[in-house]
Amino acid sequence: MALELKPLHPVFAAEASGVDLRRPLDAATIAAIDAAMDRHAVLVFRDQPMSETEQVACARQFGPLDAGLRKATGAATRFAHEELIDISNLALDGSIAARDAARLVGTLANQLWHSDSSFQNLPIKYSMLSAVAVPETGGDTEWADLRAAFDALPDDLRAAVAGRSARHSTFHSRILLGDDKYTREQLERFAPVEWPLVRTHPGSGRQLLFVGAHCDRIDGMSVPEARLLIAELIEHATQRDFVYRHRWRAGDYVMWDNRSTLHRGRRYDLAARRDLRRTTTLERHAA
Ligand SMILES: [Fe+2]
Repeated sequence: MALELKPLHPVFAAEASGVDLRRPLDAATIAAIDAAMDRHAVLVFRDQPMSETEQVACARQFGPLDAGLRKATGAATRFAHEELIDISNLALDGSIAARDAARLVGTLANQLWHSDSSFQNLPIKYSMLSAVAVPETGGDTEWADLRAAFDALPDDLRAAVAGRSARHSTFHSRILLGDDKYTREQLERFAPVEWPLVRTHPGSGRQLLFVGAHCDRIDGMSVPEARLLIAELIEHATQRDFVYRHRWRAGDYVMWDNRSTLHRGRRYDLAARRDLRRTTTLERHAA
């Protein structure tokens, strides 16, 4: 069966079917998924429950994997595969973590609009989430299309971002949430990086507005002026017309392009089990 696509939103995002992601994909199918990602930026596959091994094998077909922040923190994982990133409210033994557990800060920080690992000087490409368990209410994920956001920029904001770069720091949003106990070594290992505020998406050739919760400074601006502008840009980019909201079902597999979208998890009762597992790829030439 060939890849089939059904749009989920007027601007971007599509439901994909006709492919079993748990089996090795042929080159034509991978190319079709890449093309669909360039167009839609978010693809939702239903009914694809995966083991850890299947998930890692699936993701690797789309590029080398990056383990993200855990490279700096060295935090323990409940997974056998280092490449899996834990997007859950669970403790290492699989039980529901205490509400004030330190490991929940990362999960909660995901509720701020961000692009995965924009704080790394790496060509981050796709992220993919496999839903193992989801709460009955809450815990949706939203994505915003940064290309549509750029297209709709009013003239004054377009002028404000032209030619400027923003600094992205992994610790900015976490410190904002009260998680400030990082060692100097950890802080230095993930030193901030700079990305232009306006970038061109390689797959679609469209320009996009690259902002998010990891941004803490803009070159040539005072810190307060920059932070207010960042807040305004995020508000612009995430207006309802550019946002697709996904209601999770166990077995869902969603992939998105971090270069052209922002995303955030939505609030849920931390006493309810939410077990999502992420992989993130780099552009292939980075291998
Ligand atoms: Fe994320």
